[in-house]
Amino acid sequence: MDGQLDVAPHLGAGSYALWHRWRSCLGTAADERVLREYAGLAPDYDRRWACYTAATLRETLKRLDFQLEGPVLDVGCGTGSLLWELQRRFSTLSFTGVDASPEMLVQARSKLPPCVALEQASAEALPYSDAAFRCIFSTSALHHFRDPERALREMTRILAPGGHLLITDWCGDARTCRALMAFLRCFRRSRFHLLRSAELGRWLEGQGLEDISVERYRIDWLWKLMTARARKAAGV
Ligand SMILES: C[S@@+](CC[C@H](N)C(=O)[O-])C[C@H]1O[C@@H](n2cnc3c(N)ncnc32)[C@H](O)[C@@H]1O
Repeated sequence: MDGQLDVAPHLGAGSYALWHRWRSCLGTAADERVLREYAGLAPDYDRRWACYTAATLRETLKRLDFQLEGPVLDVGCGTGSLLWELQRRFSTLSFTGVDASPEMLVQARSKLPPCVALEQASAEALPYSDAAFRCIFSTSALHHFRDPERALREMTRILAPGGHLLITDWCGDARTCRALMAFLRCFRRSRFHLLRSAELGRWLEGQGLEDISVERYRIDWLWKLMTARARKAAGV
């Protein structure tokens, strides 16, 4: 209800409903610029980003140090590379991918088996009930979310008690990543949030998650990544 109380008394019922809808879309919809960018990138994404994607998936899966249980969700799943690998390794579990870009999802659908569910939605308004998933992944997507803190809140809401969260993203602690981000901000229209490892740790703590760790590592001279792991307390 943030921001509604001051204006609402001056609006009629119909205008209020419209205004309320506009306000809530503004906070939860994926950024238009991100959608435009990924619409263009999608057909060639896997080829252009093959090395980077292979490294991020390898490093993320290396940190999967618990027994994976389903259902599993990948938020900002893109072309479905992580889901493809997870499905191959843990074929008895149920997997879902969610992404804001229809074009990226078309690529994902073309390579994933039909048993992997895919949905178009924004990370800031995940269309799932509370405690629906035992494990939630998100790789290289957090820095694109319009409101990353809200997205983390949504992921925590739909995580089952005792469930795990694994997030890999660019690490703002590294000068090279900050320089790259500054360059991208100048020349591309997408909106980016580059988080530092301590900030991501604090945000996860703020969600009431437990056993939080944020590990930083380089995959090459340019990219330093971080993988955050956290667990939702059992019985919450
Ligand atoms: C760099 S790609 C990463 C894709 C995949 N996770 C991977 O590791 O290959 C970022 C993805 O985040 C998606 N995305 C951006 N903003 C989003 C949002 N607010 N909600 C859901 N997905 C979003 C984009 O459409 C894109 O597919």
